[in-house]
Amino acid sequence: MRDWELFCGGEQLTMAQVATHDVIILGTGLAGLRAAVEIARKSGDSINMALVSKVQLMRAHSVCAEGGTAAVLREGEGDNFDLHAWDTLKGSDFLADQDVIDAFVRRSPEEIRLLDRWGLPWSRREDGRILQRPFGGHSYPRATMAADKTGFFEMQTLYDELMRYKNFTRYEEVFASSIIAEDGKFCGLTIMDLASGDLVALRAKALLISSGGLGTLYGFTTYSQTVSGDGQAMAYRAGMALEDPEFVQFHPTGLVPSGILMTEGCRGEGGYLRNKDGDRFMSKYAPSKMELGPRDIISRSEVTEILEGRGFKGPKGLDYVHLDLTHLGADRINHALPLIREVCMKFLGLDPITTPIPVRAVAHYSMGGIECDITGKCKVDGVWAAGEVACVSLHGANRLGTNSTAECLVWGGISGREIVKYMQTDPVLPDLPQERVNAEEKRVFSDILNKNGDENPYQIRRELRETVDEHLGVFRSGDSMQEGKDKIWKLAARFEKIKVVDKGRVYNTNLMNVLEIANLLDQAKAMIEAALNREESRGAHARRDFTTRDDKKWLKHTLVNYTPDGPQLDYKPVTITNWKPVERKY
Ligand code: FUM
Repeated sequence: MRDWELFCGGEQLTMAQVATHDVIILGTGLAGLRAAVEIARKSGDSINMALVSKVQLMRAHSVCAEGGTAAVLREGEGDNFDLHAWDTLKGSDFLADQDVIDAFVRRSPEEIRLLDRWGLPWSRREDGRILQRPFGGHSYPRATMAADKTGFFEMQTLYDELMRYKNFTRYEEVFASSIIAEDGKFCGLTIMDLASGDLVALRAKALLISSGGLGTLYGFTTYSQTVSGDGQAMAYRAGMALEDPEFVQFHPTGLVPSGILMTEGCRGEGGYLRNKDGDRFMSKYAPSKMELGPRDIISRSEVTEILEGRGFKGPKGLDYVHLDLTHLGADRINHALPLIREVCMKFLGLDPITTPIPVRAVAHYSMGGIECDITGKCKVDGVWAAGEVACVSLHGANRLGTNSTAECLVWGGISGREIVKYMQTDPVLPDLPQERVNAEEKRVFSDILNKNGDENPYQIRRELRETVDEHLGVFRSGDSMQEGKDKIWKLAARFEKIKVVDKGRVYNTNLMNVLEIANLLDQAKAMIEAALNREESRGAHARRDFTTRDDKKWLKHTLVNYTPDGPQLDYKPVTITNWKPVERKY
């Protein structure tokens, strides 16, 4: 018997058994693990948690975070909270909520110190103090780093810290299929145990959604193939709005042809971007920042260079520019960028000490996510969201590098503390209506598993990614997005006629992939609707037909609500406390 079966009364699970916990944490990347540690330490290990993960706990995509975590550690030595806040706000093209930014910059240094106390091996300066390096859009070197493996060490440290506590159950390699809410209140989560094929319902007083981004909606992406926006899609269908989904970040340096992240730390260490003529082209586009401009501007500059014929020809249309580290020297590369060197050598047989790296803009991050307040609390009672899955509205229209791992830590901590406070009010365990669980079981194991049409779901996924790559890329336009929208809706119609080839229960990854594709389709619809409607250019949403920012009409957040007939749009104001929006120049 697996340990979590004890929570079903010690009986062997059959389908749709119910297991009860105090709190469910859905997704165990940086935000989820940080929240779990906070709940355990602040409650004295008295709150029982279910840790739910599609993969093994330490395989969350957060382990791939490379470059660092932003924090003001040198206050009074050139850095300060206002400067970090201003950089973040300007980076966001003034769409971020300013109260959120303020809370963020003040809390992130404490997170660095906590991890330091818990044993994280931060890179150090010669004098022993924690090392920080420059990153794009930041006007002070505040990327706190563990070489170029920051996410891995942060995850490992949080995992080790969590192991000091006992009151949690691991649900690993399970696929969460639905969030059940009744009358605006959270009741439970249904999960499919991949090993057995059982559907299990988890009942709890609170849910934290910390399941990461949705990057595999794109074909050329830095994300692990596991990142399919399941949390966003389930929340959306359960009545929570998606906020600002049209803003997707393209990182300027994805390795060609795989898309693997070549950290911005390469440029933080002094690396150059060059076109095929050898020119450092950023001098034309962001002369004061050069290669350390914000990501939206650098990505557009690269695409422009390529479109105007100054890129290199790449495989399958993946034309590229060069990331040149050859002037940095072996010592610096081996010390500060060992993973980059290893990846280049293993994937391309290329040594960046001597040879420039082929890179191009790559889908990397979604600024939007599940709407929540400054504490991570969502519209459905008893639900919080933290990390990339959430839109607490820190990043607005364009995120600065290293603000996302910091966000995961800060809001993992905040939402963890909020959940402890909530549990101290002794909330009633909500009823979990059996008919809802039965309906979900029928949807997954009868309606979907039994699909026997003539469409191949993997072909639909391939076409979906091509569509999103083509119509929701670095540059957009109304005509092209309308065409993309039509294609997405046609793909959704074809998806109704798919065949699920594997009819078994045990490790049915075919069924899991189909459920993921359904999630991706819902999000593609929401994203393109929001993008089509926003008739301006702001941050990562750059339109050829509306080329300027329009604060009069569009200084507002998009909210997308689910209806069975398609996405419904609404808007809400941006919170402005200290700074009026100004023209954004670098
Ligand atoms: O380039 C990087 O290391 C990515 C960092 C980030 O997305 O914050």
